[in-house]
Amino acid sequence: MKVSVSFLASKKPSKDIKKIGATDVNYIHVDFMDRTFTEKKSLSFKKIIKILKITNKRADIHLMTMKPKKYIKDFATLNAEYITFPVEIKKDIDKCLEMIKSYGIKCGLAISPETDVEELSPYIKDLDMVLVMGVTPGAGGQSFKEEVLEKIKKIRQEINIYGLSTVISVDGGINDEISKRLEEVDIVVSGTYILNSDNLQEAITKLR
Ligand code: DX5
Ligand code: ZN
Repeated sequence: MKVSVSFLASKKPSKDIKKIGATDVNYIHVDFMDRTFTEKKSLSFKKIIKILKITNKRADIHLMTMKPKKYIKDFATLNAEYITFPVEIKKDIDKCLEMIKSYGIKCGLAISPETDVEELSPYIKDLDMVLVMGVTPGAGGQSFKEEVLEKIKKIRQEINIYGLSTVISVDGGINDEISKRLEEVDIVVSGTYILNSDNLQEAITKLR
């Protein structure tokens, strides 16, 4: 399993990203929020660029906004493997997926715990990633919602039925215990569990 580290809840993002650079973590998970989809705002794009300059790790970008179209161009300039936005925006989903692909970046849709997996079905064949939220989007440090396990199974089934290579990433409330229960998952995103541990590499290894 691959591991992506989120610095959303970090008080010293630059320092933490530097430390993460010394580990074998697969991606830096970049959470962006402009308050259209979540209650809080994240760091601005400008601050995010500065922080990412410290690392060679590839970014896995999670746009928590109702208006991804407005931001894709900017975020596409970062060293990103994936750009993901919420399926809940409903409008212009195809357009945004195409836009991400036009920059040679893999595209994904995120799905919140309260949303039916059927919402993903019209797009599943176009997706490189499904980002399954284990918590309500908006903040780090929340507990993983058990009901999401069922959702992951259903998404895996749909991916397998069509023989797709779409990866499943799970974001929010991940620790070593939860990670062990996520057999059908390709990537886990973790913020507080990794960054609050004394030994970052050990925490990352435990998640795998
Ligand atoms: C939640 C964010 C997550 C979050 C993960 O809205 O998308 O990426 O920061 O943090 P933890 O691991 O603390 O739940
Ligand atoms: Zn995220």
